[in-house]
Amino acid sequence: MRFKEPPTGLWTRGRRVARSIGKRSGRSQEMPSKKPVVVVSRKLPDVIETRMMELFDTRLNVDDHPMTKTELIEAVKIADVLVPTVTDRIDAGILSQAGPNLKLVANFGTGVDHIDLATARQRGITVTNTPGVLTEDTADMAMALIMSVPRRIAEGERLIRSGDWKGWSPTFMLGHRIWGKRLGIIGMGRIGQAVARRAKAFGMSIHYHNRKRVHPDIETELEATYWESLDQMLARMDVVTVHCPHTPATFHLLSARRLELLPKHAYVVNTARGEIVDENALTRMLIRGDLAGAGLDVFEHEPAVNPKLLALDNVVLLPHLGSATIEGRVDMGEKVLVNIKTFADGHQPPDRVLASMF
Ligand code: 8YV
Repeated sequence: MRFKEPPTGLWTRGRRVARSIGKRSGRSQEMPSKKPVVVVSRKLPDVIETRMMELFDTRLNVDDHPMTKTELIEAVKIADVLVPTVTDRIDAGILSQAGPNLKLVANFGTGVDHIDLATARQRGITVTNTPGVLTEDTADMAMALIMSVPRRIAEGERLIRSGDWKGWSPTFMLGHRIWGKRLGIIGMGRIGQAVARRAKAFGMSIHYHNRKRVHPDIETELEATYWESLDQMLARMDVVTVHCPHTPATFHLLSARRLELLPKHAYVVNTARGEIVDENALTRMLIRGDLAGAGLDVFEHEPAVNPKLLALDNVVLLPHLGSATIEGRVDMGEKVLVNIKTFADGHQPPDRVLASMF
């Protein structure tokens, strides 16, 4: 089988460090390692893969191809622990094929919308994620998009590269001021709050919609206004930025109807999940000029992007780079290692995900 003896294949096996145990007979005996078999679905930073191989019986994805359904099934059949990413759909079909040893899905990432949590729970499989360590990087990227679209940064850059810039003029390429504008944050968790801190420093007024109102101290610090009604908030915002998780309840939260509540001069920014915004409806509105622009780091059918978006100048498109810093990815990997090691040592892993959290 591909996973068992794959020294030079797609999957490579980490070093087994055999330990001397069984000293009762007076001499040490080489015993096969009892390290958990960990299958990692994508290439991780070298330092993480090295540590993973030292700690566990690790199978790596050496060429970093997105795993096919067949490969995922092969993985869950042999693994004690699966380390997937956002590019792997760990649905009921995959989990139902899992071997008896699969006890932990240690996701490399915070969002777990690609994992069927209910089926995992039914099958006694623990799921963990990597919260906290990608907050600041993702908030930076959201702030970059909040700046880029109204100030036409990407558009200006494209113009220079095209060689068509004819020089400065008082009315040339005017954008819109950020300072003094209203920012509506959908989802006021860690990342939403980190965006609010940045945006406040840029002179924006902070508004938010969340399932629960945040602690009054946080509202005071951020001078944030809570809107119980998302519809009412949308109608009054200049920029809206999405930071809630994708769940069945938030699928197309920004539906065609809700997008139409936004003022025509408003911008939409999404660094959370593409599925939260109706991408086709958004595209139609941008084409009609019913919205001023959009900054998108995530898409409904990644890596596919609605081709009509590509033709629009008032849109900045990024390939899911929210947490893409080397520091962030190493921190995420460290969290995965801690979650697996803690679990393997018989303890509750620190970042256990419960379906009730969403
Ligand atoms: C990661 C993310 O790039 O952690 C998340 O939920 O969206 C990202 O920033 C990706 O999910 C890693 O699997």
